[in-house]
Amino acid sequence: MKYMITVVLLGFLLSGCTSSAPSSSNVSSGESVPTIASIPVPTSTPVPTPTPEPQPESPTIETVDGVTYVNGILVVNKTYSLPSDYAPGVNSDAKAAFDKMRTAAAAEGLNIYISSSFRSYEYQNKIYNRYVSRDGKEKADTYSARPGHSEHQTGLAFDLNTIDDAFGKTPEGEWVAQHAHEYGFIIRYPADKVEITGFKYEPWHLRYLGTETASKVYESGLCLEEYLDITSIYS
Ligand code: DAL
Ligand code: ZN
Repeated sequence: MKYMITVVLLGFLLSGCTSSAPSSSNVSSGESVPTIASIPVPTSTPVPTPTPEPQPESPTIETVDGVTYVNGILVVNKTYSLPSDYAPGVNSDAKAAFDKMRTAAAAEGLNIYISSSFRSYEYQNKIYNRYVSRDGKEKADTYSARPGHSEHQTGLAFDLNTIDDAFGKTPEGEWVAQHAHEYGFIIRYPADKVEITGFKYEPWHLRYLGTETASKVYESGLCLEEYLDITSIYS
């Protein structure tokens, strides 16, 4: 009788405790009490090895005769300079692309023209120093490149129309911002990238990169420094 009560009580306790781990201890009656051996041991779910996120490759920086190419693109900014005797004149591909763009703009009744193109090291030195005398070096460095650091020395940069922030709001300035990449140009110093390019907003300053690269930079929404993962800081 005592044995029966023990078995019934044990059975009751086990059936009411389905969520707790079954025990095989103190069971010798032959009743069908689950034992550890009879419980399927869950096989561990294999943890997938995470696929590493593709890391952006660091840029390939080459210097040829003092001229820096990042991923094959000629770069001039506050970090990367040109030799003082580098004087290629206006790049003919850039000029041909500009002429094509000017014709397309004219077809829409807009007049775009080049107000500054190739500038020699000596000429940049002269204008930079003039700005330093007028505004001081710190201020001048926000809008005028030091000699050897101006894109104008590459022959690949053009300033259009009036050198004025208001140009960005003119029909010509708006058209250029929307279409320049189709002709191979980018707005080199965008308003929201001042801290990265190192220069104030210049809606008039275009840099020729060729249509493929210019379109990629435009679509990315990045400035050239971000696109190439490089800095623009004077040493
Ligand atoms: N205004 C641009 C930054 C230059 O001087 O080249
Ligand atoms: Zn310029």
